[in-house]
Amino acid sequence: MTHAPSWRVLAASLFLVLGAGSATAQDKAPDAPSRGPGHAAIASANFLATHAGFEVLGKGGNAFDAAVAVSSTLAVVEQQSSGIGGGFMALLHRASDNSNTFLDARETAPKAVDMKDYIGKNGKPNRDASTRGPLSAGIPGEPAGLVWMAEHYGKLPLSESLAPAIRIAKEGFQPDARFLNTIAEHKDTLLRWPASAAVLLPGGKPPEQGWTLKQPDLAKTLERIAAKGRDGFYKGETAKLLLSSTRKAGGKWTTADLDGYTVKERQPLSVDYKGYRIVTAPPPSSGGVAIAEVLNILAGYDLTKLDAAHSLHYTIEAMRRAFRDHNEYLGDPDFVKMPLDMLLSKHYADGLRATIAPDKATPSELLPPAMAPEPGMHTTHFSVIDADGNMVASTLTVNLEFGSGFIAAGTGVVLNDEMDDFALVPGQPNAYGLRDSWANAPEPGKRMLSSMSPSFVFGADRTAIIGSPGGSTIITQVLEGILAFIDGKNAAQIVAQKRYHHQYLPDRVDVEPGAFDDATAKALTAMGHVLKDRSPWGFMNVVTWDHRTNTLDAASDPRRPSGLGKVQ
Ligand code: DON
Repeated sequence: MTHAPSWRVLAASLFLVLGAGSATAQDKAPDAPSRGPGHAAIASANFLATHAGFEVLGKGGNAFDAAVAVSSTLAVVEQQSSGIGGGFMALLHRASDNSNTFLDARETAPKAVDMKDYIGKNGKPNRDASTRGPLSAGIPGEPAGLVWMAEHYGKLPLSESLAPAIRIAKEGFQPDARFLNTIAEHKDTLLRWPASAAVLLPGGKPPEQGWTLKQPDLAKTLERIAAKGRDGFYKGETAKLLLSSTRKAGGKWTTADLDGYTVKERQPLSVDYKGYRIVTAPPPSSGGVAIAEVLNILAGYDLTKLDAAHSLHYTIEAMRRAFRDHNEYLGDPDFVKMPLDMLLSKHYADGLRATIAPDKATPSELLPPAMAPEPGMHTTHFSVIDADGNMVASTLTVNLEFGSGFIAAGTGVVLNDEMDDFALVPGQPNAYGLRDSWANAPEPGKRMLSSMSPSFVFGADRTAIIGSPGGSTIITQVLEGILAFIDGKNAAQIVAQKRYHHQYLPDRVDVEPGAFDDATAKALTAMGHVLKDRSPWGFMNVVTWDHRTNTLDAASDPRRPSGLGKVQ
């Protein structure tokens, strides 16, 4: 990126003068409760996946086994959003030793990655190469992540936790209207690859309501994982099929890419805010850093004493500054050095806060305007708690709807198009309008930066498990969910709450219709904020636990009719 705006320079100098502090915002906050709730809750984007989770809990599995069942079932019934050809990031809480860990099953760039492949003949970014077909696909992480979760944290063999997904893939299910509409919308892309069309376009046409989708190839791929674990996907028959079909279609994956894929367990980020401890995603997600930065800035205001317009103004200004840093600094921690101590320091936040005028929007850096596309209904998040208090917050993705649109012949696996989450052309917007720097440029084996922000919020009396899809808006939607929980809202209120988003560039506030009343919208506009209606928004799945009454509450976003939050 070219130059830093003056507020940032001021903030950085304040940081240097005051020195690095801890990553926390305010009052010391509690950890997770030491006892379990005695019953379980699951909220996911599809009722079949929620039921699969409870089926596995009923067989003696724990929250981690249930998470394997929910994820793999989503891979079968909601493959436009996530699947074993994609990746995930999950936050795990293990009750037995009160520990939190972050499972990074993010995709990686293949060894032969070449930035030139993503530039067209006209010298402009080649959006087709970065979002469609095998060149757009990173090496999948979800299979290795699920196997890791089962082997390190689960109680049941994969043959049991994958059983519901295998059964539904074999016997079939009736896709809902959203799934069918997504196929129709992407018909031309799917027709480009015979295996994609064979699975999703029977007779070459988009299917109609009442159609049963059976996926025998996907069932076989899942069976190989159930029988052989990691090797069932990254070696042998599945690897052979993946390599032959991707290479035939212009991809560059090799045996070494598949064989060399590794899951990373990382230390989650933790930020204390107004008596709550928020445990959230570290890099290569940008979500936790941005959420922590916003909360640290907001910790200096008493939002409850402000009118709606000012409370929103400060929150939007904090988002603007957090996304400015997102674009500039963040990438895969195994490849880039990031000033995390600075970004997470309360002194740094003090400096940023000092640059916010009370009644005036700060214009973002003047770069050519980017029209961030609206987030579609893809990527997925689910939340689980079991009777013992084990918890999982997991966000899973193939990136855009149906990922690359490419199903690897003979596997039934929809490959992701996660390469577009890299800064393939640094400074140029990706599908979410994010303009990342060289810190997020692709390199062999590197993980692309993500916005996925699975989070836990621990309070003295209440706990929340939260996350959402939505591309770059994941970060602000999860942040708003966390603030709503801290304000006392329950799971149903959190998921239903109207949302808004600012990401530095483009310099505007995206607003869900109805989020601001007329007077508030007018006041924000008078301060210089540019408001723009946006829909749809990502789909949250939230579980909350009130320790005082020992009640669990599970809610799926009302914007997604097939979702299900259930307590049992
Ligand atoms: O990892 C990321 O940040 C993106 N691949 C997530 C994509 C997403 O949420 C799309 N949903 N609307």
